Amino acid sequence: MSELDAPSIALIGAGAMGGALVRGWIEAVRKGGGLTLTVVEPNFDPELERALDAVGAVLNPPDPGPVDVLVLAVKPQAFATVAAGARRFVGPETCVLSVMAGVTIETLARELGAGRVIRSMPNTPARIGRGVTAYVASPACSAQDKALIAQLLEPLGTVEPIPAERLMDVVTAVSGSGPAYVFMLAEVLAAAAEQEGLDKETAMRLASRTVAGAGALMLETGDTPSTLRKQVTSPGGTTEAALDVLGAADGLGPLLRRAVSAAAQRSRDLGKG
Ligand SMILES: NC(=O)c1ccc[n+]([C@@H]2O[C@H](COP(=O)([O-])OP(=O)(O)OC[C@H]3O[C@@H](n4cnc5c(N)ncnc54)[C@H](OP(=O)(O)O)[C@@H]3O)[C@@H](O)[C@H]2O)c1
Repeated sequence: MSELDAPSIALIGAGAMGGALVRGWIEAVRKGGGLTLTVVEPNFDPELERALDAVGAVLNPPDPGPVDVLVLAVKPQAFATVAAGARRFVGPETCVLSVMAGVTIETLARELGAGRVIRSMPNTPARIGRGVTAYVASPACSAQDKALIAQLLEPLGTVEPIPAERLMDVVTAVSGSGPAYVFMLAEVLAAAAEQEGLDKETAMRLASRTVAGAGALMLETGDTPSTLRKQVTSPGGTTEAALDVLGAADGLGPLLRRAVSAAAQRSRDLGKG
């Protein structure tokens, strides 16, 4: 992440996601620029406080008033409780960034009295800076707002702009919930290995390291999953025997299409509620 151009930020909620953001911002300030940060959080990590101080960031100024960016990183169900208090950070120039799942731009704009709103959806690998965060911006956001917000989200991993808010349901179903599908893949691969005779612990180590290693290989080589798959598939070999099963008409493809479609539908239903 490049240096921060001394924005003033108010952060509501500094747990797993909010904390990961602050850690990244601290690294950015270490490179140059500055940061004025107001944190509203019952248990703000004292180590982060010390690190902010060490890089010369201004933490919790006495009268923060409207800030450049208001970041909402509480659980969605806590939003109703924090919204009224958060309004004091919003002025005509404030850009609101939410990482809360399912809270719409319309709700954010209404409850916070803000025009410039960015709704984002990170995923769990964000906790170690290896996530992917999709975001959608309200029409009032300028290119400059989007560039700053994309920079502020960088500590969570890669950042993907999405052109329309309705697509956030698909994003939720693919990258938001996606890590769980991959963890399940490791679980069922381990269970299959156990059934073929490996002991439980060895089966789990082989399965989880395979999933992690394959993911890392994909990231580090930049090769497509299809290229990497073909590289390990010799004609008539063992991998091909397995892929014939996984690629069958009732195999992994249709199964995942149904799974993603169910998650996207659930996201739409929750949005209506
Ligand atoms: N974790 C993920 O993988 C993930 C993925 C996608 C989206 N998100 C979104 O990210 C948001 C944050 O998730 P998280 O995993 O970071 O949750 P978290 O670790 O529970 O963090 C939320 C923080 O907000 C604090 N908080 C609660 N009530 C508050 C209040 N009234 N005022 C100020 N702070 C308050 C909590 O403090 P206490 O613990 O003391 O209550 C906690 O430290 C959620 O909206 C979630 O939908 C998370």
